[in-house]
Amino acid sequence: MNIVVIGTGYVGLVTAAVLAKLGHRVWGLDVDESKVHRLQQSEIPFFEPGLKELVVQGLKKGNLQFTTTYAQVVPSAEVIFICVGTPAKKDGGYDLSYIFQSAKTIGQNLKKYTVVCIKSTVPPGTANEVKKIIHKQTKIPFDVAACPEFLKEGSAVADSLHPSRVVIGVESKRAKELLLKLHRPIKAPRLVCDINSAQMIKYAANAFLATKISFINSIARICDAVGADVGTVSQGLSLDPRISGQFLQAGLGYGGSCFPKDTWALISFARKLGYDFKFLKEVDQINQEQINYLVQKIIKSCGGSVEGKVLTILGLSFKPETDDIREARSIPLIKKLQEKGAKIKACDPVALENAAKVLKEVKLFKDPYLALENSSALILVTEWDEFKNLNFSKVGQIMAKKVIIDGRNIYDSKKLKKLGFQYKGVGRG
Ligand code: UDX
Ligand code: UDX
Repeated sequence: MNIVVIGTGYVGLVTAAVLAKLGHRVWGLDVDESKVHRLQQSEIPFFEPGLKELVVQGLKKGNLQFTTTYAQVVPSAEVIFICVGTPAKKDGGYDLSYIFQSAKTIGQNLKKYTVVCIKSTVPPGTANEVKKIIHKQTKIPFDVAACPEFLKEGSAVADSLHPSRVVIGVESKRAKELLLKLHRPIKAPRLVCDINSAQMIKYAANAFLATKISFINSIARICDAVGADVGTVSQGLSLDPRISGQFLQAGLGYGGSCFPKDTWALISFARKLGYDFKFLKEVDQINQEQINYLVQKIIKSCGGSVEGKVLTILGLSFKPETDDIREARSIPLIKKLQEKGAKIKACDPVALENAAKVLKEVKLFKDPYLALENSSALILVTEWDEFKNLNFSKVGQIMAKKVIIDGRNIYDSKKLKKLGFQYKGVGRG
């Protein structure tokens, strides 16, 4: 099928590359000329495992191409996916102007029946707006649809090729059949429903996963107070199939481009509908407080003050296997520690370039051992494999103080204590 994917960010580029891999003829379109130019040269603008191989394959085969020009690709498209950014606004809602702008330009270039499918996460009701905007531009028949994505950064390619489910929100049989045909090579349960329900599924899924994380972080607080181990508690919960062990990893809380923004947007959307979503506000509040909780732990472990002390942050991206630092927990943590007078050294395998744009007065390192030299505390923020497998005898020799604060509960506390380290996790000793 002839497909156009508008927006070649983390979501759009993965979608385009995967659809090309499945045999469709795909155009990736972006307003950013330099990005498109780089993509045409097989250069991937961000880090995502397995993505480069797919893009190279598609470009070589000729069924994946990139452009900035709507007029070149919209007329022959059967399905157009809108994957442009939806930045958060001050009131917590989304700025939908990029969605509406792309809808308008699609409308100006339609030449035959096309399904315009929204993949960006947007509030229910947006599809209607998009429909009105396109209608203003053209008399050509079209359908609007919504296929929310559930991919996780770091495993986005695998998540797109083998998703847990394909949700197809439509309002016509014609659109339903085209979208079912497009997804035919993907083996996963299908849920065909109305557009608003499809969009609510995405919101509810992210809000629920965020809830699980804040729930276990609250349990971790109690574990800390009574000397229980939250990892063991999670393990006990995971044995109950009604609960499932996924997304019950206590630590510094959630970051990234989705959970924080989507929970704020759902709270704001509900408020506009007259519902005060207190429950989700609390989930967000717990997540925000988790930073202060760790700061207090760090200060205590450093003998009551971090003033003038060198502290090392391991991990800057919002999760491992990505260079994305949007809403990364490292950023507010570093800023709060700097406010308390700490001098920060930080290390990340791939996110240094992005981090350098937002962090001030932080010494950045690719090598964890250089970052740990003369440091008064190791603070683990992102659980990259590189940090899991450190040589702790060496680490103990180069640090000024043998203090470890494990913000993701990845280290073996007994082993570290045996090596003479003072160790603190979140919800475990
Ligand atoms: C974004 C949203 O943040 C997310 O909520 C939504 O579900 C999907 O889109 P992501 O792909 O991570 O996710 O965003 P980003 O990496 O910022 O990519 C957006 C792309 O759209 C950029 O490449 C940008 O240049 C492009 N864009 C933006 C357009 O092509 N046209 C526009 O009008 C605006
Ligand atoms: C998320 C959803 O998982 C995905 O379905 C949706 O399409 C986009 O949003 P993503 O943000 O890429 O994906 O990564 P995810 O693996 O969900 O992690 C989000 C954040 O939660 C990270 O900061 C991670 O460290 C944190 N997290 C995750 C926890 O703190 N504990 C956990 O148990 C799981």
